[in-house]
Amino acid sequence: MKTGTNDRIIIALLAALAALSIPFLTASTAGATGSGVLAAYTLVAPDTVSVSNLQARAVVPTGIGCPQLVATTGTGRKINKKMTMRVPGATTGAAFASLRACQANIPAPTEGVRSARVGGVTVPSSLPETFSKIAMLGDTGCRIDDDENPPEIDVQNCSKTTGTDPADYWPLAINSRSIAREKPDMTVFTGDFFYREDPCPANTLEIDYQLMCGGSPPPVQEYEFDDSDYGWMADVFIPMAPVFQTAPVLAVRGNHEQCDRGGNGWYLFFEISASSSPAACAPAVIGGPTTPDIAPTWSFDAPIRKGRTLRMVAVDSAYGRNFDITSWVTTQRLAYESAAELSRPVKGRESWLVTHRPMFGIEPVEEANAGLLQWTSVDQTAAAYGLISNYDLMVASHVHVAQVVKIPGQPPQMVVGNGGSKPDVASQSSYTRPQYGPLAKADGTPLSPNYTPYPTANYDWTAVKYGYVIATPNQKARQWTMTHKDYTGKRFATCALSGRQMACGAS
Ligand SMILES: [Fe+2]
Ligand SMILES: [Fe+2]
Repeated sequence: MKTGTNDRIIIALLAALAALSIPFLTASTAGATGSGVLAAYTLVAPDTVSVSNLQARAVVPTGIGCPQLVATTGTGRKINKKMTMRVPGATTGAAFASLRACQANIPAPTEGVRSARVGGVTVPSSLPETFSKIAMLGDTGCRIDDDENPPEIDVQNCSKTTGTDPADYWPLAINSRSIAREKPDMTVFTGDFFYREDPCPANTLEIDYQLMCGGSPPPVQEYEFDDSDYGWMADVFIPMAPVFQTAPVLAVRGNHEQCDRGGNGWYLFFEISASSSPAACAPAVIGGPTTPDIAPTWSFDAPIRKGRTLRMVAVDSAYGRNFDITSWVTTQRLAYESAAELSRPVKGRESWLVTHRPMFGIEPVEEANAGLLQWTSVDQTAAAYGLISNYDLMVASHVHVAQVVKIPGQPPQMVVGNGGSKPDVASQSSYTRPQYGPLAKADGTPLSPNYTPYPTANYDWTAVKYGYVIATPNQKARQWTMTHKDYTGKRFATCALSGRQMACGAS
């Protein structure tokens, strides 16, 4: 961030906040305490990180130190815990100079915690004994792309929250408030938080870009990554405050959180593994290149009722290519091997894979390269080849739509990429079923001699509509109802999962 731009950005952020009427930093939360906490949330964590499966986080200005986590038990007893500061890599320099993150585990369930606050701001403090409602969304930030080579400007209207043309508005704040109104037990975020990857372009004769994204925190030009602390405030913490206040969040990393994009913010604010430093993505030297990496696979068990558990297995699929099989497969396969181990069949346990890139996801037909089909993220499909038989469902996003794809003999793929980021193509008829299956070329021959292509889908369903999904378990094991809602909270479709079958209908 260059000197002199900070004040302008803060004013723009506050103006955006006022316009969106978000209950953020209001007198009843951080402002009243004077603690300086700018955002607070609770992440779902593996057992190895937190016995409560929960870790509270706070975002504070650099220099003021971390607040305490104050948990209150059912008997009114207060448990004070020191929060540990998460410090971004020194080589992120000016981009992350202004904000710090803080963390502390929520105390064990045996303590009977009923509520928790960080610096006076209430954070979600418990998970239910049995889960009945899980919210899911992904791909949420406001797209600002101004590519030089080849020159192409792709900008979403970040200052407009409602509309009909998906390119012309950014509904994340309203979507978040709708999710909060659902009061889910937990929210699953499937990756791609960060989209402010370029400065807002100068106006042209035809387009008033400044009206769409003027004041958006720009990347630091000299750096080889795109994100900044203020960028994360604008794209994530301000619009998503209602989601963070409502329920713990299980988050996985998207390709927009690759180290050369929004990865520094991911590791500072959202990575949960004990072995990943908040500086994991930082370049070796200021202005230097970043190195591709992968965060550890982990799992979380949500009890549904006595004798029935949902295990969510989280895999980092930030890297890899959409339409090519590359050498990244070797690294990525290790993550899916761990996931296969974590999802091994156990009586009463049903497993879902939760990862950003779909194993079987259909891009719009316009996006496919010549000679290739529009199956996306084939690096992941190849990396997980032969390792997905344990799942009842695979949840992902990456394609900015709501989608279900069923490949014969494989678990269904659900895509919840309609959280707020502009879709590549807004016309529903572009999301056609390819003639051949994943890992095939357009002529049906294998993309690689190492993998026999899958058959094409025997079922697919796509909706180009901003919103989220609410997953509700049915009485019978392995049966779920997935309700698709638009960003105002209105239901527009329902999908039924039964065993490894899935079908959707308008409703
Ligand atoms: Fe995305
Ligand atoms: Fe993505």
